Amino acid sequence: MRLVLFSVLASALAALGAQAGEAGHPLHTLYRRASGNVNQTLVETAKMSLMASQRASWEQGTAQTAWTEYDAAQWSVFAGSGSGPPYRPAHENLNAGGVPMAVLSMAYHSVTAQDSLGKLASAITGDENATSGSAVDSASTGESVLLGAWLSGQINSSSGYWIEAAERQLHYLLQVAPRTPSGAISHRSANRQLWSDAVYMLPPFLASYGLYTRNQSLLQAAYDQVRLYRDGLRLSSGPAQGMWGHILIAGNRSTWQDASAWATGEGWVAGGMLRTVAAIAQSPYSSQMASQKRDLIAWTKEILDAAYPFLNSQRSLFHNYINDSSTFLDTAGSAFIAYATFRLASMDSSNNDHIQTAEQIYQAVQNQLSPIGSFSSPVVNALSFSTAGTTSPESLAFVMLLEAARRDYHAGNVTGIDGPGTGAKANAGTPFGGPATTFTIALAAANMALLVV
Ligand SMILES: *[C@@H]1O[C@H](CO)[C@@H](O)[C@H](O)[C@H]1NC(C)=O
Ligand SMILES: *[C@@H]1O[C@H](CO)[C@@H](O)[C@H](O)[C@H]1NC(C)=O
Ligand SMILES: *[C@@H]1O[C@H](CO)[C@@H](O)[C@H](O)[C@H]1NC(C)=O
Ligand SMILES: *[C@@H]1O[C@H](CO)[C@@H](O)[C@H](O)[C@H]1NC(C)=O
Ligand SMILES: *[C@@H]1O[C@H](CO)[C@@H](O)[C@H](O)[C@H]1NC(C)=O
Ligand SMILES: *[C@@H]1O[C@H](CO)[C@@H](O)[C@H](O)[C@H]1NC(C)=O
Repeated sequence: MRLVLFSVLASALAALGAQAGEAGHPLHTLYRRASGNVNQTLVETAKMSLMASQRASWEQGTAQTAWTEYDAAQWSVFAGSGSGPPYRPAHENLNAGGVPMAVLSMAYHSVTAQDSLGKLASAITGDENATSGSAVDSASTGESVLLGAWLSGQINSSSGYWIEAAERQLHYLLQVAPRTPSGAISHRSANRQLWSDAVYMLPPFLASYGLYTRNQSLLQAAYDQVRLYRDGLRLSSGPAQGMWGHILIAGNRSTWQDASAWATGEGWVAGGMLRTVAAIAQSPYSSQMASQKRDLIAWTKEILDAAYPFLNSQRSLFHNYINDSSTFLDTAGSAFIAYATFRLASMDSSNNDHIQTAEQIYQAVQNQLSPIGSFSSPVVNALSFSTAGTTSPESLAFVMLLEAARRDYHAGNVTGIDGPGTGAKANAGTPFGGPATTFTIALAAANMALLVV
């Protein structure tokens, strides 16, 4: 009896296999459809090596974001299941569990390393010159500091360890950091420059400050900074039209320092814009800010549409300078652009044109990490943008972010541009709005005690 059943099953499976082999048959697509399973080996290696790395402020901030999106997705600004992240205004859940302690610990270290001007994560050796270097990189660590403020009950207050640290960082950006003639907050503190990197460092912090503290003008400021950076950096002609140049010396007459469409830079811009849209979408001002959200989505799509035609189709990777095939193929920027592709399609199902190509990039990234976190094919040197390196904290973070975005895309649990419940349900067969995550660990006393510093 058992044998018979077994052979019936076997022939059914064989038939299925035969059908699956027929090109064009729906089963064929089903069979080959990628899942949202994560590669545990890859991601655990990336996490270990990232945690072990020496990190500058922007890498500390990017690590915090990667940890949140991968390990504690329900605490990320992209959270789309239930009623969004626990700190979402008007839907606050003070008892939510799964508090990401690694992220809070990183944020705590960002505060202990805050410099005399208010820049978080910036006083590491004591030899730093606070008035040189980046003016905005430190802001990338600020969102997690705000999470600390929310968890410790300081978010509505002007005093307390976490909120004061966040306020000092905000004050530096809004009142102290130099601005270009158009009003963009300079990427550099000693002179006025726009770098595409800044779009990941600055607007998401302003936006999350606006989200956490219910301050619409800060959400608007986040959007305005993206717009001003775009006005300066968008390439308006030539093969790279629609992508952004990397570094502009801004003045009454601006000049390029690096006009190239740097792959990692396109990722910084796309990722930063999507985090900004997500923060607006989770906020009480979401419907009032519909046109700002539309712009940010359109500007992200514009970059992806401009970049993808240049993907090297044999290797499924982008060149370091996207429209210059004489530059090396860069795993870091490629992974980051694929990340943004999954996030965009998750938030807005009408923007999923590049998902299959992003999946190819994902596959190309799979077997690249050695057990100590070096990449087998080049990742851009984070300090020397035109040269190839073997690893970097940011590239390890991009691997985590890509795994998180692809997983969440298939789970269909990312916020849409009109807030939780309005995102793409993807095509994984996981019904959206399935069993809500049950928060088991009560935050209240235990975790708040940990956060009292
Ligand atoms: C979304 O789904 C993924 C995979 O099922 C899960 O790990 C993650 O926690 C979910 N995110 C939210 C916000 O529920
Ligand atoms: C710090 O950097 C600024 C801007 O580059 C420069 O003017 C100043 O001399 C530097 N200070 C020291 C102590 O090196
Ligand atoms: C902050 O204040 C608002 C009212 O303005 C309130 O609804 C919210 O629960 C407060 N949040 C916290 C974490 O105390
Ligand atoms: C919003 O934030 C800005 C900058 O910190 C501040 O000047 C303003 O008073 C805040 N607005 C509200 C309504 O809290
Ligand atoms: C890449 O595109 C830019 C701007 O569109 C252009 O100036 C540059 O010459 C292009 N590079 C190559 C190698 O074609
Ligand atoms: C997962 O990642 C590891 C490390 O890069 C790699 O060796 C392995 O082949 C990957 N697994 C799959 C199924 O791609």
